[in-house]
Amino acid sequence: MAAEFAEGRRAGFRVVTIDGPAGAGKSTVARLLADRLGWRFLDTGAMYRAVALAALRAGVDLADALALDRLTADLRVELPPGRVLLGGEDVSRAIRDAAVTQATRFAADCVEVRSRLVAWQRAFAGTADTVTEGRDQGTIVFPDAHRKFFVTAADEHRARRRLAELQSSGAVVDFETVLADQTRRDAQDAARAIAPMKPADDAEVVDTTRLSVDEVVDLLFQKVAARP
Ligand code: C5P
Repeated sequence: MAAEFAEGRRAGFRVVTIDGPAGAGKSTVARLLADRLGWRFLDTGAMYRAVALAALRAGVDLADALALDRLTADLRVELPPGRVLLGGEDVSRAIRDAAVTQATRFAADCVEVRSRLVAWQRAFAGTADTVTEGRDQGTIVFPDAHRKFFVTAADEHRARRRLAELQSSGAVVDFETVLADQTRRDAQDAARAIAPMKPADDAEVVDTTRLSVDEVVDLLFQKVAARP
């Protein structure tokens, strides 16, 4: 069915957007959904993180929008399946560091950076059917997307999931810290003056609290396939 659906393309390329708060499992679900559909996967959070990592490495003042914009203009970020490359270097792990996560807010709040990344995102989705994941994909970047989902889960559930992820990658953290970081990041993402995190008017909200990853992927796949 995935292959049939992949071949069902007519004019233009289709986009499925998956937005939602940190730790809702969007990346995993979006990647698996893209595999199942035979589409490409775009992790837009990784792009903002790559800009933040490059800025930290270059010692750029994160509050200087002009400097961030100049830095972004010269960056080469590539997203081959499952990896993030910055100027050819694999930074898939480095962009998940706590310091980078904190600095990412500056890239995300910067109008100039956003407009460059939005252009990259549209170019990426202009060459193949794409499942894209982020905060503003359904609202700002792809208002005409084929299907839009806003994936969320209970706060504590998201924090527990994130804690397990961090611990499995060797980080020493506790639940309270993870929950507090998550709450702060959600509030910043929702309150952003430009492209705040929110469901698009025509997005379907999917609460994953009681669902396994496979169940969420099945659910979204059925919904996408129901509208070829
Ligand atoms: O999804 P992820 O946690 O990797 O995103 C990191 C940060 O990048 C988010 O907290 C948000 O501030 C920013 N972001 C954004 N717009 C997107 C994707 C991510 O502002 N489309």
